[in-house]
Amino acid sequence: MFGTTLSGADISTLVHVIVAFFIAGTLLFQWRAIHPAVSAAAGAEKVRETIRSHWAPVMRIGMVLLIGTGVYQLMVLGMPKAELQKSSEAAGLSYHMLFGIKFLLAMAILFIGNAMVGKSAALASIREKAPMWLGLACAMVIAVIVISRHLAEMPA
Ligand code: HEM
Repeated sequence: MFGTTLSGADISTLVHVIVAFFIAGTLLFQWRAIHPAVSAAAGAEKVRETIRSHWAPVMRIGMVLLIGTGVYQLMVLGMPKAELQKSSEAAGLSYHMLFGIKFLLAMAILFIGNAMVGKSAALASIREKAPMWLGLACAMVIAVIVISRHLAEMPA
């Protein structure tokens, strides 16, 4: 991945992966630790609101960084790979198709992560069924990482 100097794509990938692992890790932690603990605690509403107000800005900054670095990586890493794939008529799954699936899954994960820290009544039903949605988000994270690693290994 790295040459003697760090390129823009190297730095973007590092930021992308670091943020992705933090965001994904906290979804698992919310599912298996925070939600059960808060639900059982006295004064659950107050604890929940304290966590929510501290975590919401981090979640939002993480989302902007992930989408920003992801779009940049698509331009500088993904497009050339997709072009090469077209011109070489190589067998295998299409870069665009895999990226499309990854993108939709990533958006669904970020949507669930944001719903957890949101206040809108429209998304209250997602927060009420948090264990189910967080579990689903964790399963989607696994799929996103498998696809992303495959994209990263495709010939450039
Ligand atoms: C939950 C959200 C996300 C996770 C967990 C995630 C995870 C990853 C991981 C692990 C890599 C592999 C890096 C490597 O091994 O070199 C990667 C690469 C990449 N991601 Fe994401 N990502 C997420 C969201 C996004 C979004 C929203 C976009 C697009 C807007 C995006 C676009 C990309 C691109 C284009 C690459 C480079 C693929 C290549 O090297 O050809 N990602 N991501």
